Amino acid sequence: MRLAVIPGDGIGPEVVAEALKVLGEVVPGAEITEYDLGATRWHSTGELLPESVLGELRQHDAILLGAVGDPSVPSGILERGLLLRLRFELDHHVNLRPARLYPGVRGPLADTSSEIDMVVVREGTEGPYAGNGGLLRKDTEHEIATEVSVNTAFGIRRVVEDAFNRAELRPRKHLTLLHKTNVLEHAGSLWSRIVEEVSLEHPEVSVAYSHVDAATIHLVTDPSRFDVIVTDNLFGDIITDLAAAVTGGIGLAASGNLDITRRNPSMFEPVHGSAPDIAGQALADPTAAVLSVSLLLDHLGQKESARRIEASVAFDLATRDQASPGATHSIGDRLAALVSSNVKPSAAQ
Ligand code: NAD
Ligand code: IPM
Ligand code: MN
Repeated sequence: MRLAVIPGDGIGPEVVAEALKVLGEVVPGAEITEYDLGATRWHSTGELLPESVLGELRQHDAILLGAVGDPSVPSGILERGLLLRLRFELDHHVNLRPARLYPGVRGPLADTSSEIDMVVVREGTEGPYAGNGGLLRKDTEHEIATEVSVNTAFGIRRVVEDAFNRAELRPRKHLTLLHKTNVLEHAGSLWSRIVEEVSLEHPEVSVAYSHVDAATIHLVTDPSRFDVIVTDNLFGDIITDLAAAVTGGIGLAASGNLDITRRNPSMFEPVHGSAPDIAGQALADPTAAVLSVSLLLDHLGQKESARRIEASVAFDLATRDQASPGATHSIGDRLAALVSSNVKPSAAQ
């Protein structure tokens, strides 16, 4: 297994170190190459993602990323020039973001009996992220800024198909499209139409629609209604921070940026960012990064190893002191020990 690792900025290197500790227990022979992309490199060389590095990254089976973004770099330089560029260049069209309330974890919601187990299939290469915009009448009082959301039938269809395929494999077989069809006329009708078309090929999957604003209410008041969610790039970004918050916090939320065609390596990363407010203090929870390794292994077909990591996380979450789960490296040590002792999934239930 050839893995490229981009620790990145802030808490990125802290959580990645723990994720690699855990990975080492399940895949001791993994060949790991680290890339020093991020704020430090940009400051010293001005480089964000050199072509030669992109070429090297392509030679790997998968990429593990910590987080990028640093207060010393103008907002967006690293995010767009490194993270989004990787997603676009490597055609990471499915941004997979599971959100599950693990047994023992007390989320912030009053009704803790509610079972939360959803997976958000966020479109990853289009929408307002496409970089299609600009400024008109610059430096006048009539300046206009546009950020045009790009939605192609091809781009929508491939994520919608992926979402239906995932829904079909889940016990509830339920899919919700989140959009804003009452305002976004053109993109809204294209998304709705394609969901309707693809649903004909998946008669066993039940389909619902929700406006994204209402969905934020339901994520808080009745999150168990969601099973698979499919949505565009920006709505998916926002909704997955909320989904993380209601399932125990952003420190637990993992993601995969997938090229479903497997022409390019997929990239796995926590949903969270570089958290400059807690960086360097061993306060970051590395669980999201560890679960991202589990998604990575799952994607590479190493299902048994992926399940072992999930079981260890489930056990740790069920038994940890929720109020003070421990320092970043202590959580990593615990998870690595659990993985090496091959804790069974049932132990946590
Ligand atoms: P953030 O996710 O970094 O932090 C939001 C809040 O969550 C902060 O209070 C932080 O302390 C907390 N938090 C985050 N990860 C945590 C963890 N593992 N354990 C415990 N608490 C955690 O979001 P932000 O503050 O909006 O962004 C900070 C920087 O990160 C910005 O530069 C932003 O652009 C960037 N960012 C990068 C990514 C990425 O690389 N994928 C994702 C989101 C934000
Ligand atoms: C995420 C982040 C990124 C996004 C930013 C940093 C570009 O918020 O991965 O959720 O908006 O996709
Ligand atoms: Mn985000």
